[in-house]
Amino acid sequence: MTHDFTWSDAPPGEVLDPVGIWIVRAPAGQRLPPDGSAPPWLDEKERSRLASIPQQSGRESYAFAHWALRSVLGSSLGCSPGSVGFLRQPCPGCGGAHGRPAIRSPAPDPAGEPLEFSMSHSGDHVAIAVAEATIGIDIESWPTPESVAGYLPFLHPREQQWLGGRAGDELVRDFARLWTRKEAMAKATGQGMAAVMNRLDLTGQPLGWRVRQLLAPPGYEASFAVPASVHVSVTVYEELPQPMPELART
Ligand SMILES: CC(C)(COP(=O)(O)OP(=O)(O)OC[C@H]1O[C@@H](n2cnc3c(N)ncnc32)[C@H](O)[C@@H]1OP(=O)(O)O)[C@@H](O)C(=O)NCCC(=O)NCCS
Repeated sequence: MTHDFTWSDAPPGEVLDPVGIWIVRAPAGQRLPPDGSAPPWLDEKERSRLASIPQQSGRESYAFAHWALRSVLGSSLGCSPGSVGFLRQPCPGCGGAHGRPAIRSPAPDPAGEPLEFSMSHSGDHVAIAVAEATIGIDIESWPTPESVAGYLPFLHPREQQWLGGRAGDELVRDFARLWTRKEAMAKATGQGMAAVMNRLDLTGQPLGWRVRQLLAPPGYEASFAVPASVHVSVTVYEELPQPMPELART
């Protein structure tokens, strides 16, 4: 099932940037071979990340998220999921090789806009955003109240104040919403969470950015962030262009 929604706060006649968002659930059942071998469509870095994940359930989630990303990008770029190549941009904070992930291959069309993307996984869900503009996306399952209490002191003082009057499910839900706004910004800028944790107040719109909440499955929250100069036309999909191969077909 696919549902589309479009929003814009652009004046009439403003050019809208198309943004595709996929919020998809991992299929039930085992998709990875029990012998620990990696599926052929993962690259070397993905294979070594996969091998470092101790539990089978974690490996299954990682593999699904990376299939989902490859499926979406392959469909956008007109190539197979396995032939998408990735690189890491330099971190804007320290210059290290852990900034925003980007597409290395296939080579971009010199006449076209570069394709940007962002990915997030939580529980059995994956969120992927694809755009011609810088974008960051995050999805989170609702945390436990204990986890909320543990992270609260590390938020921006205005965020702590904003959450301060809440309790129970309302606190957990609004904390999760705020957190996805922070992570969406952390990924859009490429700086990671340390740069936004207590330094950026996400109860409103950060200067130069537009952060939007997405309709997420029950028990989840999701948000994305784009530069404020960009006016988006968002389409949300619930199914991948190509489903993850069954174990027998990997
Ligand atoms: C990047 C970060 C916000 C991701 O959040 P998370 O809760 O761990 O995980 P999510 O599932 O939501 O997102 C993970 C995806 O974000 C993307 N990602 C990782 N680093 C990123 C960055 N710097 N910018 C944008 N996206 C990034 C990747 O696609 C990653 O997927 P993968 O781990 O399967 O390859 C978080 O891990 C973080 O802040 N890391 C610290 C980055 C760092 O070391 N900075 C040092 C600054 S000097």
